[in-house]
Amino acid sequence: MRGQVPRSPKASIMAETDKLPSPAFALTRPAHVESAHLVVQDLARVADFYRDIIGLSVLERTPSGVLMGVAGVPLLTLSTSAMAARAPRSAAGLFHNAFLVPDRPALAAWLAHAAHAGVRLDGASDHLVSEAIYLSDPEDNGIEIYRDRQPSEWTYHDDGTVEMATERLDLQALYDSAPKTRFSGMADGTALGHIHLQVGDIPQADAFFRDVLGLKVMARYPGASFFATGGYHHHVAANIWNSRGAEARRIGMTGLSDYRLKFNAESELQTALAGLERQEIKTTRTSDGWSLRDPWGIGLTLTS
Ligand SMILES: [Fe+2]
Repeated sequence: MRGQVPRSPKASIMAETDKLPSPAFALTRPAHVESAHLVVQDLARVADFYRDIIGLSVLERTPSGVLMGVAGVPLLTLSTSAMAARAPRSAAGLFHNAFLVPDRPALAAWLAHAAHAGVRLDGASDHLVSEAIYLSDPEDNGIEIYRDRQPSEWTYHDDGTVEMATERLDLQALYDSAPKTRFSGMADGTALGHIHLQVGDIPQADAFFRDVLGLKVMARYPGASFFATGGYHHHVAANIWNSRGAEARRIGMTGLSDYRLKFNAESELQTALAGLERQEIKTTRTSDGWSLRDPWGIGLTLTS
């Protein structure tokens, strides 16, 4: 024991507190994505993938659906029906659901798990604000697993937009840094940090997410806009890379049925509701929020 500094009870309490995951920056903004709902054809196969490969837990099962999440927090609903018809790649809907892990070791741990499971990745990028790994589920729904750099490390421009880029991510170095422990699911605190949509038209997406819902444009790429509240790099992105000119989704199409946008700030929620009313976009008051469809038939529920 010689040489060890005895710890006061207060010091150990503080050390314990330090270990608690603090909510991600993305989730403390005025609004953020809370969860998403995919319609699939092979419910058992896709649910197994999100449990065994992505590392989500099953929170609830019904005959036609599965609710999945992390540490009891719902992030993803999968449902199916006999009507579910496979959406073409060019359909409006999901580009990817982006699961935000708490830190770099958690990203490395997931990568090591995916490598050991022989998962085929679609790519990996360093976006300056974040480090991201891309893959697809068995029905080709896009998935991103990412971690954010500290917002203090991000570069903001004078107009409030944020510097992002797509640079190579050294996957080998990330893999080598992985904790040598058995993967037991997504780290506590993992959230749906953003959702990236396929839409038919960028000016129309700007008009909806910026002018109607009141999100800020944080960055633009050719054929894509990135929207957020509270200075996050993006809570929602929209691109036309596969879907230029896409029309509204048809009922029963596989892929993204709807997602939930949670408002922490009442003023931002009122701004969004006023924008919807101004544009006469039909909203339905439900037990937990306001439901509507975007110009491409993608459902969203505003909750508070
Ligand atoms: Fe993304």
